[in-house]
Amino acid sequence: MIFNTLNCKILMLEEEQKLISEWYRQHHRRLPWRETRNPYQIWVSEIILQQTRVKQGLSYYQNFIERFPTIRSLAEAEEDDILHLWQGLGYYSRARNMHAAAKEIMGKHNGEFPKEYDKIRMLKGIGDYTAAAIASFAFDLPYPAVDGNVMRVICRLKGIKEDIGKSKTQKMIRQIAKEMMPADNPALFNQSMMEFGAMQCTAQSPECGICPVQEYCFAFRNGLVSQLPLKIKKTKVRSRWFYYLVFEKNAHVWIKKRRENDIWKNLYDFPLIESDKALNEEELLKQIRKKFNLKKNIRILYQSKEIKHQLSHQLLHIRFYIIPNHSQTSPDKWERTKVAELHKYAFPEIINKHRNMIEEQIDRYENH
Ligand code: ADE
Repeated sequence: MIFNTLNCKILMLEEEQKLISEWYRQHHRRLPWRETRNPYQIWVSEIILQQTRVKQGLSYYQNFIERFPTIRSLAEAEEDDILHLWQGLGYYSRARNMHAAAKEIMGKHNGEFPKEYDKIRMLKGIGDYTAAAIASFAFDLPYPAVDGNVMRVICRLKGIKEDIGKSKTQKMIRQIAKEMMPADNPALFNQSMMEFGAMQCTAQSPECGICPVQEYCFAFRNGLVSQLPLKIKKTKVRSRWFYYLVFEKNAHVWIKKRRENDIWKNLYDFPLIESDKALNEEELLKQIRKKFNLKKNIRILYQSKEIKHQLSHQLLHIRFYIIPNHSQTSPDKWERTKVAELHKYAFPEIINKHRNMIEEQIDRYENH
């Protein structure tokens, strides 16, 4: 029998795909977004899971769907309420984009989630991966959803040694996934590849000994599993120093909403001195006096240690200073709130983590 290379390649892809789907049938985790075809619910799950692990994202998903069960309810919600529910997940632009996209669906699509890939892809916050995931899971459209897990599986299986940070490599990987995808079940294929990468072909400890596609795997056969995929790190981390000033009087403090196009947009924080280098005490006090137009020296009741907080491309060095019994006139748009009501506002997680400490210090001060 004449057996050309192309036929051989197609048969291999088909066989690998079948083995991985079979592995999925036996081993996959039962997750609520896998039990539904509702595009809204799938969308919510995919956005949450973009930068969050399943274990952490699960309760957020359930709370979100309970609180905002429909596109309309999300579109009509107050942004503060959405951000409050999102608290702790980070990358808050995800929530803001979903809010904008829900409004767009109400306005442009009659409140019905679009059923075509291109229209889904146009929604705010939805990239190639998320559009393909929704299109395949909700509508069985044949688009490969290639996330980091799937890239890892394909790089190892096919021995791709190019940098996966490059769009050329990603394009090549998407093409292979497309060729592997069976026409009759894109949803199962995408779920299987993702789950296989997340649970079996993991980054640090893949279970090659019990892998169903071991004999096909280029990386396994060539001792390259720990080296693939190749990812060249080049992102520079920006350091920022945040000195938070908690101005207190009669168990009330000033807070403010972050409105700039910066991290934590529309979340709350405290009045702030920011610097691109560490400030010593003298410099800090000078800047405080200048920024807040203070004539006298301030009294610092409490100063926290430096808290380092790593974001994807930034390292924050944060300190909190509690300044008691301080009459500060309100510069624009600050809000005065009772200390006991701080929990009602959506703060970045790192501030929330230290809220108890701030409340306790002020409580102790006020009651002695
Ligand atoms: N990560 C992104 N999408 C996912 C899904 N549908 N199931 C599990 N993990 C995921």
